Amino acid sequence: MSRVPIIAGNWKLFKTSKEAIELASGLLPLVKNKSNVEIIISPVFTVLERVSKVIAGSNIKLAAQDCFWEEEGAFTGEVSPSMLLDAGCSHVIIGHSERRQYFGETDETVNKKLKAALSKGLTVILCVGETLQEREMGKTFDLLQKQLKGGLSGISSNSFDKIIIAYEPVWAIGTGKTATDQQAEEVHAFIRSEIGSFYSSLVADNIRILYGGSVKPENISGLISQKNIDGALVGGASLQVESFAALVNAV
Ligand code: PGA
Repeated sequence: MSRVPIIAGNWKLFKTSKEAIELASGLLPLVKNKSNVEIIISPVFTVLERVSKVIAGSNIKLAAQDCFWEEEGAFTGEVSPSMLLDAGCSHVIIGHSERRQYFGETDETVNKKLKAALSKGLTVILCVGETLQEREMGKTFDLLQKQLKGGLSGISSNSFDKIIIAYEPVWAIGTGKTATDQQAEEVHAFIRSEIGSFYSSLVADNIRILYGGSVKPENISGLISQKNIDGALVGGASLQVESFAALVNAV
């Protein structure tokens, strides 16, 4: 079993087209020789197509930050998986905690989106993670089990080559407060064993589980050297060429 590590940048609601093009073009020469790590960037919808042209033929892949589950129809404001493919995406982030927190995402909507994205051939980065309150109440593992069960409901083992999981403790996102290497590893090991019991040890061994929450060039090495941590989903530090390239090059 060998799991190729992933460094994925979640640009959230940042970067106009000019800034996004600058960031993507700036990254290209700094990461072009990295072949032992998968590099993914995730700009806002409106710049996906332009950024896809900048990174075409390179080792950087493109993800959207969300998608809808219907293909087309009267759903004002939504974007479908086929439209993401059309814009040059190979990946899509689903169930980010900010979407769960501010836009009413539930395990059920996450599951519908995941199924729709997989059915069109997109690779999904499924996000899970507990809030500070849930952690303090000792509910971390129950909550994660619920998010995994709900998010992956009806998904067969065959789909797992197109599923990546991102564990992002909500209390560590954008707060500068990273989980310790041991805290993260403990949860990653739990997630892998849950996948093993829902599916098989083969699926569990092969699935890549990323950590997210205040990942920076200074803390990536400790995290990535943990047995069950296969990379990172990075917000803040993905917004600058130097810090994102440093993260990629640290792997
Ligand atoms: P952060 O965000 O790196 O800024 O904490 C991570 C994320 O939300 O994916």
